Amino acid sequence: MKKIVVEGGVSLKGEVQISGSKNAVLPIMAATILCPDIYRISRIPDLRDVRTMSSLLEILGARVESKGDTFIIDTRDVNKWEAPYEVVSTMRASVCVLGPLLARFGRAKVSYPGGCVIGTRPIDLHLKGMRMLGAQVSMEDGYVYVKSSHLKGRRIYLGGAFGPTVLGTANVMMAAVKAEGETIIENAACEPEVVDLGNFLVKMGADIKGLGSPTITIRGTCDLRGVDYRVIPDRIEAGTYILAGVITGGEVRVKDVVPAHLSSFLDALSTTGCKIEEGEDWVMAFREGNPLPLQITTLPYPGFPTDLQAQMTVYLTTLPGISIVQERVFPDRFMHVAELLRMGAKIMREGPKAFVMGPTQLIGAPVMASDLRASAALVLAGLKARGKTVINRIYHIDRGYEGIEKKLSLLGAKIRREEE
Ligand code: EPZ
Repeated sequence: MKKIVVEGGVSLKGEVQISGSKNAVLPIMAATILCPDIYRISRIPDLRDVRTMSSLLEILGARVESKGDTFIIDTRDVNKWEAPYEVVSTMRASVCVLGPLLARFGRAKVSYPGGCVIGTRPIDLHLKGMRMLGAQVSMEDGYVYVKSSHLKGRRIYLGGAFGPTVLGTANVMMAAVKAEGETIIENAACEPEVVDLGNFLVKMGADIKGLGSPTITIRGTCDLRGVDYRVIPDRIEAGTYILAGVITGGEVRVKDVVPAHLSSFLDALSTTGCKIEEGEDWVMAFREGNPLPLQITTLPYPGFPTDLQAQMTVYLTTLPGISIVQERVFPDRFMHVAELLRMGAKIMREGPKAFVMGPTQLIGAPVMASDLRASAALVLAGLKARGKTVINRIYHIDRGYEGIEKKLSLLGAKIRREEE
């Protein structure tokens, strides 16, 4: 079992090159199924989840060739419409092949994605969207079957109890691109990754309006083609490294980012007394003056991102007084708390809220990674803690962070990967 060993107590300083966005790349790779052609997609991060999506496309009949951070994807021979359990069970995001497969073949069979440690992860809204476009939806032996000889656009309200759905919006948008007439998605996700997918589809020839707003209008078309495309940078990776600097009392500048994608996160940092400096494609943050406690609530974009909640909770342990975290997207997303308690954090959980007392000196300990962002939070805690922290099950980290120990070492961190 691979693990990461961190010696805490070093203030991190320097610049980090941010990679392409995992959550933009995955649906964009799925969208290449829509039209049999050749696509050249760049700024693709070297991540486990990207390799999983590549193998899924190859299982369906596509050819995927990587040259550095550019993938050449040839979907002309895609001839299967089933995403098998073996793949979907390792990566829930595989569900975003549902819409493109239905649009291309008139049918799709996708293993029903299981839950994970951050929540049950239902796909009822995805299936509602497919039904409303005219597909028959059925469930059998753990698979979802959708089929339709003719998809027809209409008005679809896609909001759920926890707000919009990111991959649900992606799936319905991709299916609607080849549906007859106009589809209006109401309460659509506004995340930059959904906008990036929409921009990719528009470059392919789709007619989409309202990207980044809660109402997206798609007019179906058959005139699509393969394109070259460069994906957006990963705002969650960027936020994680900014926190690595702030938590350790250093100063980290993240490069090749879109500062506007980080607004709510940067606003929260400045509320605690951090100084934020930003340029066209970079952001730097460092602590200044007397820090203040913070209340954050995770919300759909442009609200505070749930994917930075675990990492921010580590930062809250360094602030005086009582800070409060409320999870409004994944109310159970607190697996990191139990491990932080083992490192001496003082956190009390009450349902979708966590009360964080500080400042607390964290003490290094062996800890267990549970999901992608909780694992990143444990690395940040190890950077701050006194002594040595050993993070086990780091395959979770490799799903979403390209070369994390290399990037942190360049900032001065004492961090190494060990094979057990
Ligand atoms: C995407 O997941 C991201 N993953 C997640 O990032 C991210 O946390 C999440 O959006 C929220 O921003 C990818 O893009 C690959 P949702 P997604 O559908 O689309 C409920 C990471 O760490 N819901 O927006 O699966 C759901 O339970 C990952 O990179 C339904 O009720 O999330 C949740 O409470 C983790 N019914 C809320 O909506 C549905 O049909 C938002 O989920 C779908 C979702």
